[in-house]
Amino acid sequence: MDRYVVAGNPVEHSQSPRIHAAFAAQTGQLLDYGRLLCPLEGFAATLKQFAAEGGKGCSVTVPFKFEAFELAPRRSERALLAGAANTLRFDAEGWLADNTDGIGLLRDIEINAKRPLAGKRVLLIGAGGASAGVLGPLLAARPSELVLANRSVDKAEALVASHSSWASIHGVQLKSASLADCGRGFDVIINATAASLAGAGVPVGPDVLVPGALALDMMYGPKARPFLDWAAAHGAEGRDGLGMLVEQAGEAFQLWRGVRPETAPVLAQLRAGLGA
Ligand code: ATR
Repeated sequence: MDRYVVAGNPVEHSQSPRIHAAFAAQTGQLLDYGRLLCPLEGFAATLKQFAAEGGKGCSVTVPFKFEAFELAPRRSERALLAGAANTLRFDAEGWLADNTDGIGLLRDIEINAKRPLAGKRVLLIGAGGASAGVLGPLLAARPSELVLANRSVDKAEALVASHSSWASIHGVQLKSASLADCGRGFDVIINATAASLAGAGVPVGPDVLVPGALALDMMYGPKARPFLDWAAAHGAEGRDGLGMLVEQAGEAFQLWRGVRPETAPVLAQLRAGLGA
């Protein structure tokens, strides 16, 4: 049976095994998907051993997405734009790195939440690996403007600089900003910081929201609750990161197996299981 894993540190709470098991059952694919805890200094060695033992590919999670990208000689265009990978396929002719986080987020916003981004004003908060992974696909959805705000402004500036020509190709005004001075009245805000994970509260003020805005936090489960409550308290539609998680997994499954699973029933099943 073909074997896949989610590789990261930590991985014990990852929902990916549950998601891929559901996709496999639904599509009739025979595969085994587990967790692979990698030592912080031993990501490459651990993965090489897994591949040598017959592993076919992996999902990559915190903190290895940049290292995974560096390890693969072959890279998809979206992985190249992000400089980071969340999916590897161990092909005989060389490992292939892909990044399905951005398309996963976009599908969740535009299809699941029914919020097309074209012509909208978008605020993306955070400038770490999570933001790097999604910025390119967000720009390709052609919002009128995208402001990238971060606690450390220099990191936002660097990410804006590496995406500036991609933004102009798609006719998007792309700007960097501090958290305190990121503007107001956005149609969609996306929290890609680790603030919810750290229990640090929402890092921007409520005037960033237009009435009825979509406010999405990439976190899910109890850690996302304060952000969702904040969104509801200020007249926005809150959304957690569970939909993005299932959608990025659906893209990875397709890359590995050549079959597109249906994501909606798996998302519903996961929400019911988590009470989210
Ligand atoms: P990831 O790969 O999940 O993006 P990361 O690369 O460590 O993780 O980035 C974490 C992001 O969350 C950064 O944008 C960080 O801001 P800095 O660049 O200023 O460090 C942001 N972040 C973490 N804790 C935060 C907090 N309490 N408030 C606001 N931003 C926070």
